[in-house]
Amino acid sequence: MLASLEARPADPLLSLIKLYEADSRPDKIDLGVGVYRDDAGRTPVMAAVKVAETRLIELQDSKSYLGPEGDTGFVDAMASLALGNAVAGSGYAGLQTPGGTGALRLLLELWQRANPDGSVWLGTPSWPVHEAMIRRVGARLQTYVHYDITAQRACPDNLLAAIRSAAPGDLFLLHGCCHNPSGADTDATLWQSIGEALSNVGAIPLVDLAYQGLGDGLDEDAAGLRTLLDHVPEILLAYSCDKNFGLYRDRVGAAYVLSGNDTHLGIAKGHLAEIARSCWSIPPDHGGAVVRVIMADRALTASWRSELTQMTKRIQSIRNRLADFGDVGKFAFGRLRHEKGMFALLPATPDEVAQLRSNHGIFMVGSGRINLAGLQEADCDRLVQAIGRLPSFAHKRTS
Ligand code: LMR
Repeated sequence: MLASLEARPADPLLSLIKLYEADSRPDKIDLGVGVYRDDAGRTPVMAAVKVAETRLIELQDSKSYLGPEGDTGFVDAMASLALGNAVAGSGYAGLQTPGGTGALRLLLELWQRANPDGSVWLGTPSWPVHEAMIRRVGARLQTYVHYDITAQRACPDNLLAAIRSAAPGDLFLLHGCCHNPSGADTDATLWQSIGEALSNVGAIPLVDLAYQGLGDGLDEDAAGLRTLLDHVPEILLAYSCDKNFGLYRDRVGAAYVLSGNDTHLGIAKGHLAEIARSCWSIPPDHGGAVVRVIMADRALTASWRSELTQMTKRIQSIRNRLADFGDVGKFAFGRLRHEKGMFALLPATPDEVAQLRSNHGIFMVGSGRINLAGLQEADCDRLVQAIGRLPSFAHKRTS
């Protein structure tokens, strides 16, 4: 049986972790996988998480099963965080999931049950798992260009044109904030237009909110999602706590269906529970319980918010530091000041990415995506100099 399987290439992003670990150069720089690093290059456990974990160890008196919906206190807390005041006016059905990835999978399968002949629309480039997962569930994929890598600018008109050409019930997978990989976010006016266009067509948004708090702030980063609530009757929301709670390996996420119709919500929740049961049965508990403990305690919530703010400020200061270099050859660093979140896209070829790795010990994904949170202030000069030394870069600084 095994002999009939064809070999598969390793995941390019995850295999970069191993390549980086295996490199012995002491001054290597890891701009690969999207994890936050502090000024000393560490990915620390957040202080509030440590306290909550200690509490859980002391107080948790059972490891018995939870239901397929997981920790409902966690699910409700994340709904409040994502929806803010809007949570009072909007009904939702939610389930805890293994990471935001689990949430995306549940919601795609749910949508497909309701719209087996519809299309899922995705702006490119996107997080590679989006496309892989859409294909895995067997949905029809349609794409439009979200970000022009060569011109280094977002193409908002393409999304609106795609929505206008979609069929009722089609699904639009939208990045809630901190677009991965480009950092090119949707502004408030565009969110309004997206909401209006989706409503006119009867298409459904699936919002992937994986970086709340790492762009402009917790409420600001959820503003697009909240705007959609004013326009469309049904929204699917995939939430991840990987980055904003630093709980990467604990796999903490939640899937939500938002609707004003309680009957529909009850039925949708039954489907979500059924799909979850056949995938992972019951989600892992620990990370969700940690987040619940933090959100139920004012002091811990304040500590978490303050640490998150510090993380976001550090990322912005790296953005500004690089932006000060202006244009270096074909790479317009100046735009980084206005883009959001952990990632930016270099218009670098895979060959140039390989040269940066072999000649300078700078590790990034083949697409040219860099994780800005992996940079130390002191590394910024080195990165820009290394880019400037690539044969294809005409090294002329304009500012
Ligand atoms: C990333 O984009 O680097 C992260 O979301 C990690 C992952 O799972 O791809």
